[in-house]
Amino acid sequence: MQEVQVSSRFALTQGDPRAHLDDFATAVAEGLSRPQKSLPCRFLYDEVGSELFEEICDLPEYYLTRTEHALLERRADEIAALLPNPVALAELGSGSSSKTRLLIDALLRRQSALRYVPVDISRTALEDAARSLLSDYDALQVHAIADEYTAGLHHVHAETERPLVIAWLGSNVGNFERSAAAGFLAGVWGQLEARDRLLIGIDLRKDADALEQAYDDAAGVTARFNLNLLGRINRELGGHFDLDRFAHRAVYRVEEGRVELGIHSLEDQEVEIAALDSVAKFEKDEMIHTEDSYKYSLEEIDTLAAASGFEVERRWLDPAGAYSLNLLA
Ligand code: AVI
Repeated sequence: MQEVQVSSRFALTQGDPRAHLDDFATAVAEGLSRPQKSLPCRFLYDEVGSELFEEICDLPEYYLTRTEHALLERRADEIAALLPNPVALAELGSGSSSKTRLLIDALLRRQSALRYVPVDISRTALEDAARSLLSDYDALQVHAIADEYTAGLHHVHAETERPLVIAWLGSNVGNFERSAAAGFLAGVWGQLEARDRLLIGIDLRKDADALEQAYDDAAGVTARFNLNLLGRINRELGGHFDLDRFAHRAVYRVEEGRVELGIHSLEDQEVEIAALDSVAKFEKDEMIHTEDSYKYSLEEIDTLAAASGFEVERRWLDPAGAYSLNLLA
């Protein structure tokens, strides 16, 4: 763990990137040797994957980003008015921080300066975002944390600038299994004080067609995003995956309320992975599970909040009721 003061208004704390490399090799070895193959979704976000995800956010089918953006545009001042003044802003999974600008604008209409603590696994995304934010906002100070959520949260906790609002946007909570989401939020709760708040964006349950299109777009960007996991194994672990022999799949399970993403083997095949000194065998139609994206009803959000120690102080929905922003206290 290393903190670098890049300029007077920008510091960057970097977790150990080698930890992730070892972690990736272990996860691939384990995940591909199970009877039901799977790879953890956090590995979707290398540099290529993070760029593809940014493209997903602009797709016509992927309503989540623009709906959340519109909600923030409409509600940011109302949200800011419910927060202590002044407040510091932290963000989990900040990416390009583009939607966060709406919150930053609203907060800077109420206070003269703002400390912003973005946490993201991608150091490049953090550096790009910080550069652009700092050139646009003179009153902003940025301490970026390049690490996974849990490690990042410890740094957020160490922030002396309180009170604090943590933004967790983009329905990132949806990529946690429901009980793991409650466990993670209980950990966030444990890092906060009574006057701090959590602002969380959560995608809502809706009809299967809209959801399956959102995760299997016509331009094939989500397919490239998903298959990039195999590309990443090729690049980082000397894998020999031929991406044309696999296909992206997205299925919505209504009862579970989740979109399941997987990579489907189009034929019987064997793939060498040099760094693991192993050969992965696939049968035709076999799936590698890569991600779940859980959708919530309003009652399920209340239950999630209560299970982790929070209560929903305010909630905002878009006019179509597709997406929610929740201020947790
Ligand atoms: C990051 N996360 C909230 C996205 C989602 O909607 O579950 C990841 C994603 N996977 C495919 N498309 C988007």
